Amino acid sequence: MEAWKLVTDEEERLRGRRVSDSASVISELALPNDANPLGYLIGGRVMHLVDIAGAIAATRHARSPVVTASVDYMTFLHPIQIGQLVTVLSTVNRAWNTSMEVGVKVMCEDLMTGEVRHTTSAYLTFVAVDGKGGKLKVAPVLPESEEEKRRFEHAGKRRMHRLEMKARLAQEKAR
Ligand SMILES: CC(C)(COP(=O)(O)OP(=O)(O)OC[C@H]1O[C@@H](n2cnc3c(N)ncnc32)[C@H](O)[C@@H]1OP(=O)(O)O)[C@@H](O)C(=O)NCCC(=O)NCCS
Repeated sequence: MEAWKLVTDEEERLRGRRVSDSASVISELALPNDANPLGYLIGGRVMHLVDIAGAIAATRHARSPVVTASVDYMTFLHPIQIGQLVTVLSTVNRAWNTSMEVGVKVMCEDLMTGEVRHTTSAYLTFVAVDGKGGKLKVAPVLPESEEEKRRFEHAGKRRMHRLEMKARLAQEKAR
């Protein structure tokens, strides 16, 4: 039995969507099970949350299952202490034919003091799939605010860079 099926008709699925339509937030407490020996949250847990939050935004935009095609480099600006609240924000910045760039921002909050810090940002590319080995077209993104238009523009440059990198790696492998 299929675990899912497309429920949105194709015309509706491919209708342009606003950035706010895909905006997603997930939060969880940093728990001791995910601590490194210094008592901070391990980076792998943050990466996991980034992938999940990215996939939620991409799925909201595509109204189909998605797979992670690539993750641009990630930096960890501050450690997250066990007991702090980790909040991961994600939106689709731009969509092309079957792929989408999702911007993800990780914040941590000290619930005792209320101090909030930006700890990580990342860009991920997701591809919409049909679950039968095929890829699906996705709706265009309709940026509204100046910030959304700037991200949309920059996403185009990042995509060129990613595809150049992919082609270069394929060439090196073929040698
Ligand atoms: C990602 C995947 C679907 C791409 O399939 P493919 O047949 O190589 O696809 P194509 O070369 O036709 O690319 C499809 C789209 O993905 C984009 N893409 C492919 N590789 C990419 C990469 N490394 N970075 C960014 N975009 C990429 C292409 O530009 C294209 O976008 P467009 O349709 O919007 O123009 C396929 O490689 C795959 O299924 N990989 C495994 C994914 C996975 O298991 N992820 C982790 C668990 S979810």
